[in-house]
Amino acid sequence: MKVAVLGAAGGIGQALSLLLKTQLPAGTELSLFDIAPVTPGVAVDLSHIPTAVDVKGYGQDDLDVALKGADIVLIPAGVPRKPGMDRSDLFNMNAGIIKNLVEAVADNCPKACVGIITNPVNTTVAIAAEVLKQKGVYDKNKLFGVTTLDVIRAETFVAELKGLNPENVHVPVIGGHSGTTILPLLSQVPGIQFSDDEIKQLTHRIQNAGTEVVEAKAGGGSATLSMGQAAARFCLSLAKAKQGEEVTEYAYVEGDGSDAQFFAQAVRLGTDGILEILPYGELSDFETKAKADMLDGLKGDIQTGIEFANK
Ligand code: APR
Repeated sequence: MKVAVLGAAGGIGQALSLLLKTQLPAGTELSLFDIAPVTPGVAVDLSHIPTAVDVKGYGQDDLDVALKGADIVLIPAGVPRKPGMDRSDLFNMNAGIIKNLVEAVADNCPKACVGIITNPVNTTVAIAAEVLKQKGVYDKNKLFGVTTLDVIRAETFVAELKGLNPENVHVPVIGGHSGTTILPLLSQVPGIQFSDDEIKQLTHRIQNAGTEVVEAKAGGGSATLSMGQAAARFCLSLAKAKQGEEVTEYAYVEGDGSDAQFFAQAVRLGTDGILEILPYGELSDFETKAKADMLDGLKGDIQTGIEFANK
């Protein structure tokens, strides 16, 4: 199996690559690409960790080699958010990067499962889908917006509030990956009841958790370590699924379009990507209203991506 990380020298990219070097199954090739000159060095550094994962680093001119025959591609390449910026402000900078990188994915590994991390994910996933369609290789079962960070944040914050071990808390999070489009389904957390106030506060905290990090880093960037962990968890699930194990993860994918063309939901993964998109069940009144209130915004984000890719 070959796993490629595009943007591997960045804050997310390095954390993610480290976790993959230590946790991918033995025999996997880990291919690191970034335009930053330090990239071959990041690969050499990781290569000294004694696991049976073979790491190779590729610079600027070697995107095609880095991607050739990859089974899984993760893309955190881009510009991170600074204080005062919304994820959507990143659009102009990151949209072009995603378009170019996904064109190269289509040319070199058209059958790969692709996980988009670069924000704004609500839009960059739509761009990626359009680019793959233009190249005639789009498979909606193999394109994912990585929203695992919303799930792990929700689990952490619920555990914190209720004094539980976060490893035993499971929170479904649906919708998109920005602000109010992130919809944690607190009514469906097994074994835990919340007051109306707790639901309001937790939902707000989960939706704005990215900003909590941006402000705490005070100009030094956005979430990198927790995002690296989230993306690694998602990638390891894809890898397990490729090896025949059935796994369920939340991701922002193209489904039946009943909410929006792309929508984060639980997906059952198999050897060829998505086997099945699982229904999210019954929503509480609070969640029903929150979903209704955000859908137009999410659809607008998607439309922006479609227009960008086709202009
Ligand atoms: N191809 C490959 N790598 C690129 C490209 C490109 N065209 N453009 C930028 N990069 C690389 C940079 O060289 C850098 O190493 O992407 C990396 C980004 O790393 P950081 O600046 O540390 O940013 P990070 O915090 O990792 O965030 C990256 O994730 O959440 C999103 O919005 C965030 O889009 C941003 C991305």
